[in-house]
Amino acid sequence: MRTLTETPRRATKPGAPPPGIRTIYEKSRPGRRAYSLPQTGVPEVSLDELFPGVARRRRPARLPQIAEVDLVRHFTELSGRDYGVETGIYPLGSCTMKYNPKVNELVAALPGVRGLHPYEPEELVQGALELMDTLSRWLAEIAGLARTTLQPAAGAHGELTGLLLVRAYHEDRGAEPHIALIPDTAHGTNPASVVMAGYEPATMPSDARGGIDVAAVRRFVNEHAGDIACLMLTNPNTLGLFETDIVEVARIVHEAGGLLYYDGANSNAVLGRSRPGDMGFDIVHFNTHKTFSTPHGGGGPGAGPVVVRDILEPYLPVPVLKKTAAHQYTLDYDRPRSIGKVRSFYGNFGVLVRAYAYIRALGAEGLREVSDAAVLNATYVMAGVRDLFDVPYERPVMHEFVVSAEPLRAHGVRALDVAKRLLDYGVHPPTTYFPLIVKEALMIEPTETESRDDLDAFVAAVRAVVGEARSDPELLRTAPHTMPVGRLDEVAAARNPVLSQRFPDDEVAAARPT
Ligand SMILES: Cc1ncc(COP(=O)(O)O)c(C=O)c1O
Repeated sequence: MRTLTETPRRATKPGAPPPGIRTIYEKSRPGRRAYSLPQTGVPEVSLDELFPGVARRRRPARLPQIAEVDLVRHFTELSGRDYGVETGIYPLGSCTMKYNPKVNELVAALPGVRGLHPYEPEELVQGALELMDTLSRWLAEIAGLARTTLQPAAGAHGELTGLLLVRAYHEDRGAEPHIALIPDTAHGTNPASVVMAGYEPATMPSDARGGIDVAAVRRFVNEHAGDIACLMLTNPNTLGLFETDIVEVARIVHEAGGLLYYDGANSNAVLGRSRPGDMGFDIVHFNTHKTFSTPHGGGGPGAGPVVVRDILEPYLPVPVLKKTAAHQYTLDYDRPRSIGKVRSFYGNFGVLVRAYAYIRALGAEGLREVSDAAVLNATYVMAGVRDLFDVPYERPVMHEFVVSAEPLRAHGVRALDVAKRLLDYGVHPPTTYFPLIVKEALMIEPTETESRDDLDAFVAAVRAVVGEARSDPELLRTAPHTMPVGRLDEVAAARNPVLSQRFPDDEVAAARPT
């Protein structure tokens, strides 16, 4: 991280991008190769002879032609411009970008784990099945519920799986409720999953303390008697606040015949402290990449295991792991009431192995320390920055917190400008404009893996940036100044992304009349 004695420089022209990296295609030169294979001694046969009359491309694929050294330098240069949890603090609220211990990777790379094939016969993979069974039991214990499916490939996929379980449960009882209740602070995946499962989302307001409004839930449930499929709740919620009225909410929903779904994506705040099953929840999903330190993002692979109360066990996706009388593990597909398969094979095994390694290394006491540290770190950073912003809900925070950059609007500065300027200090910015119920929201999640030094440096960077917002707002409005690219037009990037490489002859072809 940049030292704070020095203010990050302005670019010579604000907003002007520094010299970019040439693409690998621009570096391509005809005939260059990054490999050389030995002569095979096999006589050459022309392609026409091999594939007569078969559809073949008219010209060779336009692959970059590049020497090994240039290839290695190209990707090394690119990787140096990246920022990740191994670069520094990454306080992106709602995402739990904590450091993943390397021992997880070591375990996942063991030859007996890495080399497994999903079609291997059960008797040869008993160790892998035992690992899955142990992890399933640990997750059930953490959730305070009965049975686990490891199949879902992400948090959102866990939500969909859970909602399909809700549907199967109601259908089995001859009921056809339509509505799933969701608080207005919910992660966007919640309503999306509800719709995908064929339900109608009903948004419940938050109360003045930032929790779900129990009176509104009661009113809504009374008005829609018989039509409540479930309520989805995230705890701590996306404001970083503990939902204190859960037991009452659970009672209202259960009495109306609905089920309770716990979005456990924020479980790093409560590990070893509270269990959704004890609060009345029937279904929980975990985000292993957030809570159990498996790698994040990049499109996957991920894992979103789902844990359920015993009444939902018959509906779990197939296959279900079972132990036979001979103490052998087997995969049971003969489950007539199952919702079917939600993913190929048994889930993202490599990711699940990492979660297993993490839980195994920490043990129950270690997991409790995780949640202690997550809450302590967020509380510490909150104390360091709260005087700079509006604090929408004055309550103790859990693993993350939300402040409003509204006071900076008097200087013509918005939350986005604060985030962009933080980049110049070598810090990954917080989440902005989420949750939607807080204006100019900055959502900060330092995570449990940051040291006090890093937390102090982050607080100092935020303080420096807010100081600049008051003295030199233009510096923020045109930030970042020290990054490989300057301020992007985010709307154009989202609406009109350019995702392909154009070649000079494409331009010629495009200009030719058709
Ligand atoms: C509260 C909450 N719910 C659901 C999700 C969705 O999880 P995923 O991104 O793995 O689909 C997230 C993601 O961070 C989340 O923060």
